[in-house]
Amino acid sequence: MNKLDSALVTGALKDAGFALTEKVKEADVVLINTCSVRRHAEDRVLSHLGHLKHIKETQPGLVVGVIGCMAQRLGAELLDHEAVNIVCGPAQIPQIPDLVIRALQGRTKLLSVTENIRQKCSDDQSSVLDTFETAHDSDKYHIPGQAFVRVMRGCNNFCSYCVVPYVRGQEVSRPPAPIIEQITRLAADGVKQITLLGQTINSYNYPAGDRTYRLADLLEMASEVEGVRWIRFITSYPVDFDEAILHAMADLPKVCPYLHIPAQSGSDRILKAMNRRYTAAEYLDLLAKARDIVDGIAIAGDFIVGFGGETDADFAATVELVKKAKYKNCFIFKYSPRPGTRADDKLADTVPAEVKKQRNIELLRVQNEISGRYNKCFLGQTLEVLAEGPSKKPHLDSAACAGQPQLIGRTATDYIVVFNGPKSLAGRFAKVKITKVSPLTLFGKL
Ligand code: 5AD
Ligand code: SF4
Repeated sequence: MNKLDSALVTGALKDAGFALTEKVKEADVVLINTCSVRRHAEDRVLSHLGHLKHIKETQPGLVVGVIGCMAQRLGAELLDHEAVNIVCGPAQIPQIPDLVIRALQGRTKLLSVTENIRQKCSDDQSSVLDTFETAHDSDKYHIPGQAFVRVMRGCNNFCSYCVVPYVRGQEVSRPPAPIIEQITRLAADGVKQITLLGQTINSYNYPAGDRTYRLADLLEMASEVEGVRWIRFITSYPVDFDEAILHAMADLPKVCPYLHIPAQSGSDRILKAMNRRYTAAEYLDLLAKARDIVDGIAIAGDFIVGFGGETDADFAATVELVKKAKYKNCFIFKYSPRPGTRADDKLADTVPAEVKKQRNIELLRVQNEISGRYNKCFLGQTLEVLAEGPSKKPHLDSAACAGQPQLIGRTATDYIVVFNGPKSLAGRFAKVKITKVSPLTLFGKL
């Protein structure tokens, strides 16, 4: 969501005549798009702001804006920070060019956030966001050949640890017509892979006349768009998971057989305290059904370790779940209490930092063992990947190939593949023969 918002804002500012620079020293305006999901992310923003305050001593005209979830969460409090000129929430991003221009003209403090975040977004506001979404999306700010398309905003789930419903507001599904128009336009611009975005994308629901559009309908409609080769969707919530989505994945060749479906914990007691509304057994049943219906499906999960009250036995249940779920990979986070959430109000953060760290390491070790075993099956196979571009960090394991950079690509099932090839492959499909594997990465030859 944040990557997409950053791309939209970049596009809007370019359309308003601004140019992008990566260097603060060259900039007239610095915008920080922020995440509030864990405290660490917010702490990093505060440290950037400390640095910018220092820079403003020699560049007093520099305009600093904080946008996104942290802007919505802290509002006026953030505007009080000496370095900050603009605070703008995720629902107000269409105003950014205007706010920036006003700030540059000398208005030093500008605040634009949603006053009552739990109030349903008005139709007017939704349509402004929709217009902004379609006017400034472009594949140019993403990975070549790929684009994100938001199909929903907000979340109504209120997992007890999560700040999202308090910063991104109530769940709203976008109408299907502009979504499909947008995909058609992106495909005409050369986009090959579309990733549909929603906090709980399986609950996409848009009533229109005598029918209701669900995610499976969107997948079918998107599949019909010429030029699009791969369609992904993230992220799924394990309740109300319509079987039609699995059938769409099985039957529509363009829909990638990849499911990101966070479990968060394997302990029913903790799942209840997290307000997740399913048990570990129900979650595993859903994975079994997915594997039954979708041949070769790859499944990824998220977990939070060290949630308030998590005992060794609860953690052991999470380890058990990870062993049974046989994920392709999972993302593991240490619980970070978020102000204003139910968990923070009602539950003490009982698990010491050191124990959280150990549980994180242990769960990652268990998952890496599973991933490593799985990945060995790919040795000798030739996989189709969508090349993204040069790999940011050099992988020593990659088979050397004179004069060609190390590229990174992903399979339809989201496996990362590193191989040597010309830069011009970025945004194109390639076939790679796998010669080496590690728990996180496959390596091969073009
Ligand atoms: N602390 C730690 N991790 C969190 N997540 C969400 N809220 C928190 C929190 N307060 C994790 C969940 C979610 C992912 C995006 O971030 O695992 O799926
Ligand atoms: Fe947060 Fe839960 Fe909504 Fe995901 S489903 S955004 S974890 S409240």
